[in-house]
Amino acid sequence: MAEKIIIDTDPGQDDAVAILLALASPELKILGITAVAGNVPLQLTQRNARVVCELAGRTDIPVFAGCDAPLARQLVTAEHVHGKTGLDGIDLSDPRMPLKETHAAEFIVDTLRTQPAGSVTLCTLGPLTNVATAFKSAPDVIGRVRRIVMMGGAYFEVGNITPAAEFNIYVDPEAAEIVFGSGVELIVMPLDMTHKALVTQPRVEAFKDLGTDLGHAVAAWIDFFERFDRDKYGSDGAPLHDPTVIAYLLEPDLFVGRYINVEVETRSDLTRGMTVADWWGVTDRKANAIFMGDVDAEAFFSLLIRRISSL
Ligand code: BDR
Ligand code: CA
Repeated sequence: MAEKIIIDTDPGQDDAVAILLALASPELKILGITAVAGNVPLQLTQRNARVVCELAGRTDIPVFAGCDAPLARQLVTAEHVHGKTGLDGIDLSDPRMPLKETHAAEFIVDTLRTQPAGSVTLCTLGPLTNVATAFKSAPDVIGRVRRIVMMGGAYFEVGNITPAAEFNIYVDPEAAEIVFGSGVELIVMPLDMTHKALVTQPRVEAFKDLGTDLGHAVAAWIDFFERFDRDKYGSDGAPLHDPTVIAYLLEPDLFVGRYINVEVETRSDLTRGMTVADWWGVTDRKANAIFMGDVDAEAFFSLLIRRISSL
């Protein structure tokens, strides 16, 4: 039976590719896509989520708008990486499929209450505000989540938005603290691992060579948003973060990590949103997350290209 998932996201070009990978995967049943403010404001992330569904011809997927600001902070966005729309790279017209009226957090709660306990996986690709809001408003649903597979955090690779923090956790550290403390099985895709999944030029070309509209869209998106990281890190290619979440559901053996304790820094201004990962087991704090450290990048990209070619 297909694994039921909710994708919580702030598209974002790499979010868009993750959504396409999920749409291309019969092993997964997408119950809904919930948008959150992050890479760009909510008005754009909810629009972009619908744009991506329409591009894939999947107007049947319900899309919900959620929180427009972090739990306790001003929103920080990343137009410097993703462009003004969040999906810069190709020209896009406004989506025609409607946005659902229900708030994303309410949809998450209702879904977890109505689906059998332990049957729904949350895939989080942005700040954790929607999920934390759902958990705060309805603690009874926490124990009903099958697992959370999240893109977020960094340890050895340190930060991408500040020297200490990864963007998704930095934007809403209080929400991340709630999720990391929830007791739900957590699988974390941090920068330590995504920085090994590099979009090199031959990989961009491979998407173009698919010769399909979506192949071209993916190539243009990743080429656009990767230029920022290519310049920053001086590498041949830049990391493709969010699709690793979906790839994990399809081929978990591509990833290697450790089951460790991870805590989120919320009190310091200097290290706000740092994921303090006890990789070496130097404390007696209880393990709460599988924190990935490595990926078979060749196999990851070949999975991605194969699946996108089927759309
Ligand atoms: C994360 O932040 C966003 O810019 C990307 O979409 C990804 O989810 C990487 O730090
Ligand atoms: Ca994202």
